[in-house]
Amino acid sequence: MRLKAAQDQTLIGESPAFLEIIDQCSRAARHDRPVLVIGERGTGKELIAARLHFLSPRWEQSFIQVNCAALPENLLESELFGHEAGSFTGASNKRIGRFEEAHQGTLFLDEIATTSLAAQEKLLRVTEYGTFQRIGSNKTIHTDVRIIGATNIDLPTAADRGEFRHDLLDRLALDVITLPPLRHRRDDILLLAFQFGQRVAQERDWMSFPGFSDDMIDALMQHDWPGNIRELKNVVERAVYHSEDEFSPVDAMEIDPFESPFRPQAKIQKATDSGPTPIEKEAPAPMRPQSPLLDGKPVDYSLTVAALERTMLEDALESNKHNQRDTAKFLNLTYHQLRHQLKKHEFL
Ligand SMILES: Nc1ncnc2c1ncn2[C@@H]1O[C@H](COP(=O)(O)OP(=O)(O)O)[C@@H](O)[C@H]1O
Ligand SMILES: [Mg+2]
Repeated sequence: MRLKAAQDQTLIGESPAFLEIIDQCSRAARHDRPVLVIGERGTGKELIAARLHFLSPRWEQSFIQVNCAALPENLLESELFGHEAGSFTGASNKRIGRFEEAHQGTLFLDEIATTSLAAQEKLLRVTEYGTFQRIGSNKTIHTDVRIIGATNIDLPTAADRGEFRHDLLDRLALDVITLPPLRHRRDDILLLAFQFGQRVAQERDWMSFPGFSDDMIDALMQHDWPGNIRELKNVVERAVYHSEDEFSPVDAMEIDPFESPFRPQAKIQKATDSGPTPIEKEAPAPMRPQSPLLDGKPVDYSLTVAALERTMLEDALESNKHNQRDTAKFLNLTYHQLRHQLKKHEFL
């Protein structure tokens, strides 16, 4: 849908931190140098890269995107620089690379920190001399491409560890735009949530968007949004899709749709674990607690678990002087989750 695609590209925000980014973006767009866009996942790096292109003098030329993390090392080089027929097993036809395709336009290298040192060497050459060779060819090709790189990795640290070339970093870092995480631009949370909610209401053919309940607004404001705008968008879209009544404010949201007592426990090792440090953090694993009342006698599981929940809630409320926000933090729950628990156990 054209309209939907166009709406999805609109950057929303009014917080000073966001407006500063928009200014910086307009200034950087004008010159013809590389730009690095840095930010946690979901902060809008792709949208900013597109904005940089469409505000630049190259806006009528191609805007080509490559996700460097999506391809293995040798395929990425061929994707970027192209290859001659027969240059490696499987390369039966000649292939024009993205640098040739993007000639006179912009090439957006997403997840640029994942490129191999060999690919980085070639990138350095293109940024310095505007030249490269297709794989399997000696012929030097000239290209005029503006590079925009994006990553959620701290590149200077990666360079100090030998994982990213310092000289390439210096070339690319003529302009660095660092996007603030959503938790540092809280003024924008509700504005974004309303926009995302309105779009879903429109898709559901509702007369108008009924907004959010006070509890839901509190919950939206309380959450830390580690997945940033992408997470907020998903949570709001899910909430509005699940809402039954188009005339009542949307009241319930689910931060983690996988949350379930039956969720499989195995933890997948992240590909980045051995690589450069992402900016994200992980929650510590809980200790294994003692099973209460399991002294060899049969026990009612549901009643016992419910009693344990109630005791934990009582104790946590007590130690936090009955302040619900502090209690939620104390239990590593969102405010909304705590309210849900309190209602379930009839504390409210
Ligand atoms: N300022 C913004 N206004 C509206 N939507 C945004 C904004 N920033 C990001 N988004 C939306 O959030 C999602 C993630 O954005 P994206 O650019 O893919 O993030 P990143 O590349 O940093 O992971 C996308 O659906 C995008 O449309
Ligand atoms: Mg992205």
